[in-house]
Amino acid sequence: MSAHNIDSVLIENRKFKPNPNFVARARIRKQEFDALHKMAAEDYTGFWAKQARELLSWHRPFKQVLDDSRAPHFTWFADGSLNVSYNCLDRHLGSRANKNAIIFEGEKGDVRTLTYQQLTDEVSRFANALKAQGIRSGDRVVIYMPMIPEAVIAMQACARIGAIHSVVFGGFSSESLRDRINDAGARMVITADGGNRGGKIVELKAATDKALAGGCPSIDKVIVCQRTKHNIPMKAGRDIWWHDAIAKQNTDCPPVWVDAEHPLFLLYTSGSTGKPKGIQHSSAGYLLGAILTNLWVFDLRESDIFWCTADVGWITGHTYVAYGPLAAGGTLMMYEGAPTIPDAGRFWKMVQEHKVSIFYTAPTAIRALMKLGDSFPNKYDLSSLRLLGTVGEPINPEAWMWYHTVIGKEHCPIVDTWWQTETGSNMITPLPGVTATKPGSCTIPLPGIAADVVDEDGNSITTPNQGGYLVIKKPFPSQLRTIWGDDARYASTYYPKFGGKYYLAGDSARKDEDGYFWIMGRIDDVLNVSGHRLGTMEVESALVAHPKVAEAAVVGRPDDIKGEAIFAYVVLRGARPAGGVDAAITKELRDWVGEQIGAIAKPDDIRFADNLPKTRSGKIMRRLLRNIARGEDITSDTSTLENPDILLQLQGKV
Ligand code: PRX
Repeated sequence: MSAHNIDSVLIENRKFKPNPNFVARARIRKQEFDALHKMAAEDYTGFWAKQARELLSWHRPFKQVLDDSRAPHFTWFADGSLNVSYNCLDRHLGSRANKNAIIFEGEKGDVRTLTYQQLTDEVSRFANALKAQGIRSGDRVVIYMPMIPEAVIAMQACARIGAIHSVVFGGFSSESLRDRINDAGARMVITADGGNRGGKIVELKAATDKALAGGCPSIDKVIVCQRTKHNIPMKAGRDIWWHDAIAKQNTDCPPVWVDAEHPLFLLYTSGSTGKPKGIQHSSAGYLLGAILTNLWVFDLRESDIFWCTADVGWITGHTYVAYGPLAAGGTLMMYEGAPTIPDAGRFWKMVQEHKVSIFYTAPTAIRALMKLGDSFPNKYDLSSLRLLGTVGEPINPEAWMWYHTVIGKEHCPIVDTWWQTETGSNMITPLPGVTATKPGSCTIPLPGIAADVVDEDGNSITTPNQGGYLVIKKPFPSQLRTIWGDDARYASTYYPKFGGKYYLAGDSARKDEDGYFWIMGRIDDVLNVSGHRLGTMEVESALVAHPKVAEAAVVGRPDDIKGEAIFAYVVLRGARPAGGVDAAITKELRDWVGEQIGAIAKPDDIRFADNLPKTRSGKIMRRLLRNIARGEDITSDTSTLENPDILLQLQGKV
């Protein structure tokens, strides 16, 4: 596809109709889709109750559906009880005991499969091991693991006994790990000796030791899975090998029935201010969103091999790896390593070898692989693919077209799914057998999801293409329940406007003349780096914690691969380096931020100045910093600037 064609696609606003072959056997077709929308419009709670009864297995059936009497704290199905692990495992054993639940490939090429029976046995054994270590329903357990089946086993085992897991992405530093352990008050860390990524060992146990050495008073035990088998120290009395912990346990572990609202997990995500927020999800409402979207959006079938490339450390790896595909009885593919080991054909080779039929990844990965050329995907047989998906940030039409033509061979529908850690599952997305797609648009809300774009006063914006706030006007089952330990922050972050009636997503968006949603960006100071949210504040706090830094301001600038890159303006305690650049101190600060937060947060550019641009009241003019970082002309009014002379330094001109 030439650049010329891509341009014309944009100008024509061309739509890609669902492929008729796909439509012919899609789970949801136009007729079902219209019926679902009609039902959701006529009887909103009845619609959700019906889905919950049909898709989940209940121990005690619910009578109550939505309770909004304590808004914005909503409950769903609250008088019902169930177990998430039972829903993902036991209930399939009748018909799917010998079906593969997980196909795993390590970075070095080792392949391992687990049937539903084997996975149920492993989860039960490990759940018994957790119990033997004193873990009970409601206890918090931090999981800091590589992308290996044991990560899913650990999550499912927690769910089985009602323990609340909090998975911390293995790329986060020991400092970030410690903050999350302490905020959650976790009793245990489950980790590994290491993981294989990018041809190196990720030293997870060393990072765990460092985190705990810094003070994590709530932690009693650390369970360590042996993956890389390199030498690591084990602390007597605290650390236990996974294989020792399960050695004497049997595979019989009855699921603990929990209330629908029992917290299933916490997952920390960045906000615009303060420390990361522990997003708290429920058991039943969350699982309902997970299974429903796996069936509707991914059209998951008995014979599919579903590969979502996200790490279990992110919400996508929760809903579309650890829970959703299993709840739906599917087979999931899991990969430990980096997409470019040994070369940029790795994903496509795995698609060929494991006959992956549904593939879900992030625009940043698509762009990175696109840049490395068509010859890699063209080497492999991708004919098993029937559906593609993207998530995490807006996908640029060029990358969309590449995905569509080079990977999907023009016959696979692409679902561009908009959602968030807080929403738990897909919200605005095409349905592959129904919705015509437009490259770059996440299209329209799912049935039962009351998404809209509103103005400052909360009125629906009816003029096509006029931007506004993206809101969800009605509570929905899979939404977050609160921020762990901070109900006030929950209310003030997600329900601050519009009389507290609408969920504020924090994104700006517009709807076009067809009612299609186009995400325009964040309304707060949150960056989207490689599809992951990072608060500018977090990076700034890390920078100013360095002894040489007096002040710092961080903004985003567009980046070809990562979506957004991090641009930091730094005022040093000593003299400003000549010309505002200094390779040595730049490296020192980048490494420092990597240690404080994780490699994902390392600034891409650092510019040194004697001061930041401030108004007379001392407010930093961020818009100006953004203009400069993006190489744009300064359009904003600089007359309120107290120190206009600083501009030349910030621009790197002196
Ligand atoms: O800004 C939106 C962007 O990612 C944010 C959510 O980030 P996080 O909670 O880390 O979850 C990422 C995976 C669900 C949103 O507020 N975003 C997510 N998906 C899309 C998107 N922006 C545009 N198009 C999408 N499909």
